[in-house]
Amino acid sequence: MTIKEQVLALLEERKGESVSGEYIAGRVFASRNAVWKAINALRADGYSIDATTNKGYILSADSDIFSSYSVESRLRGAAEKCAVTAVNSVGSTNTELKRQAEDGAPHGTVLIANEQTAGRGRLGRSFYSPEETGLYMSVILRPRLDMRESLFITTTAAVAVAEAIEAVSGRKTEIKWVNDIYCDGKKVCGILTEASVDYEGGGLNYAVLGIGVNIFRPESGFPDELSDIADNICADRTAGVRASLAAEILNRFFTYYEGISERSFFSEYRRRSMLIGKNVTVVRGNEEITGVAVDVDEEARLVVKRTDGSLYLASSGEVTLKKGGAVK
Ligand code: BTN
Repeated sequence: MTIKEQVLALLEERKGESVSGEYIAGRVFASRNAVWKAINALRADGYSIDATTNKGYILSADSDIFSSYSVESRLRGAAEKCAVTAVNSVGSTNTELKRQAEDGAPHGTVLIANEQTAGRGRLGRSFYSPEETGLYMSVILRPRLDMRESLFITTTAAVAVAEAIEAVSGRKTEIKWVNDIYCDGKKVCGILTEASVDYEGGGLNYAVLGIGVNIFRPESGFPDELSDIADNICADRTAGVRASLAAEILNRFFTYYEGISERSFFSEYRRRSMLIGKNVTVVRGNEEITGVAVDVDEEARLVVKRTDGSLYLASSGEVTLKKGGAVK
């Protein structure tokens, strides 16, 4: 850790309390002048740090800026091996981690951004990622899985995110096949998994799992095209929620990930599926299949019963739900 990161870690440990420059210098084995420079660099990054005469430095208790420490210190179990980097702004955390994966970055590399200026969604769409309102996080995975099992990365992540949102916000979550998370009928999270395939080995070189959660309401609300379909999980701004959510997701995801071949995620995935029993249309390229979603099978395919009684197994595609689509 750099001196700046160590100073931040110390201030975060004692958030809201004053910590003397002398004490910090002793803990990080640096001069008081080096500590002072680190404090100024942190302020330049946006951290609200007050200095009180004779008492020292106080990191505001309301501080909700991500730091790698604020997430890493909450990691447990298999997720403890993750190396988290937090940045203020990036085009897309997925794009950046794909570049790092190509350069050899290891399994468990995590990037979190305070904002994305070119956040990306599925099917070439953009993902609205304004500053300080959401969790924009990507993870490099180097799976020792065959291609079929690798497809479960996204479904595993959907379960981990759904559970983590409930733990942090208390809101009930549902999964809209394949990987959107909904609260009270509105989308609160999207997941984009991108992979580089190893044709000869029959598996993946790496996957980048990207997760975007709307945590707080953006200051000027959601843009018009999203206002009817998107929601945020927390009504009030509470410090530390973003770091807790990031850690809760990683803790759960890496636990499920260890049992991915045994489909450890599956019963929770099916239980939370919001489409079962609904009238749906699955769109795959130019093809449209309409019917009732009757199940999600063990390959995480959506089972759609057409009006002629035949079954269609969707392994990818986009689902639209008919209004008032519940089937008696
Ligand atoms: C979707 O709903 O279509 C998927 C949205 C995925 C958004 C996340 S935010 C973090 C990561 N970086 C990106 O550019 N996209 C994903």
